[in-house]
Amino acid sequence: MTKPRLYSGMQPSADSLQLGNYVGALKPWKALQEEHDAFFSVVDLHALTVPQDPATLREKIRRTAAQYIAAGISPEKSTLYVQSHVPAHTELAWILNTITGFGEAGRMTQFKDKSSRQGADATSVGLFAYPVLMAADILLYQTEVVPVGDDQRQHVELTRDLAERFNSRFGKTFTIPKALIGGDDARIYDLQNPTSKMSKSAESMAGVIWVLDEPAVSAKKIMRAVTDDEGVVAYDREKKPGVSNLLSIYSSLSGRAIPEIVAEYEGQGYGSLKKNLAELVVAEFGPVRERAHELMADPAELDRLLSRNADRANEAAQTTLAAAYDAVGLLRRG
Ligand code: TYM
Repeated sequence: MTKPRLYSGMQPSADSLQLGNYVGALKPWKALQEEHDAFFSVVDLHALTVPQDPATLREKIRRTAAQYIAAGISPEKSTLYVQSHVPAHTELAWILNTITGFGEAGRMTQFKDKSSRQGADATSVGLFAYPVLMAADILLYQTEVVPVGDDQRQHVELTRDLAERFNSRFGKTFTIPKALIGGDDARIYDLQNPTSKMSKSAESMAGVIWVLDEPAVSAKKIMRAVTDDEGVVAYDREKKPGVSNLLSIYSSLSGRAIPEIVAEYEGQGYGSLKKNLAELVVAEFGPVRERAHELMADPAELDRLLSRNADRANEAAQTTLAAAYDAVGLLRRG
């Protein structure tokens, strides 16, 4: 039996992935690749929708790919490649742009948040069209499953709408994908501001844990995480956002259920929960960090591996792109 097709990606927008990317996406990806025909991309074209420094972007793209592999994504089992190495992504995105409503794209909450923060003049057309490029990523591979964190739910919904619209206008061309979103780990919050999502673009880095950070730095950030003055370890997202966030992270990294962890810390303050969580984070990220540095030390080998994987992706993508071009009535080159 053929395995279901799976697709996901991350932006190379920082020197390191953050804990939310790891817990919300990378860790589930690793398990899912066993039972799926998985494609994982470093979405460098998406990263260009906000200003990037050209000299460091290239390095960030390699670093992101290295972290995928270091965290356990196998470039043999899965297809792990760089989005811009497969031109069909932008080609299909253009076709999808022509069936996306202006109002529909304007309703995307991530676009609304970012554009209102930046102001209209600093907001590019690329940022507006960002979710359409994401739809192209997914639809090009006839994807069935899209494992993402909770913040990407609306983008996957748009992808489904566009696929259904295209199929009903032009005939069945795309598989309708489904988002696969975890539970408590699908949204990890900033350690200093536990009602905001942990993000690579947070204003302050004090509440963001980086996969590639020095272990001592990560441990210190966890010890300083904002909690409350109740001193009772309990899970309540509304009343105890800080402690609940620590429990979600603990649960994801230890593979244990939250009630079991709460029971273990009953009658203890937050100190021991934080100390043990810091140890878990250091134990999880230590080997990832070491392996990522080894891979980054040989960029030529990393580039060769990405190139081989891009060939595989290209082949799969070309078939769908040709079908979509045919369906809308473009003339085949003679
Ligand atoms: P990006 O680069 O912002 O994030 C990559 C993945 O990490 C998840 N994530 C989180 N999960 C839990 N808690 C958090 N604090 C947290 N922060 C990030 C995201 O949900 C995501 O799964 N648009 C996408 C990239 C993309 C994509 C795609 C994804 C482009 N094309 C096709 C899937 C399929 C993005 O910006 O992810």
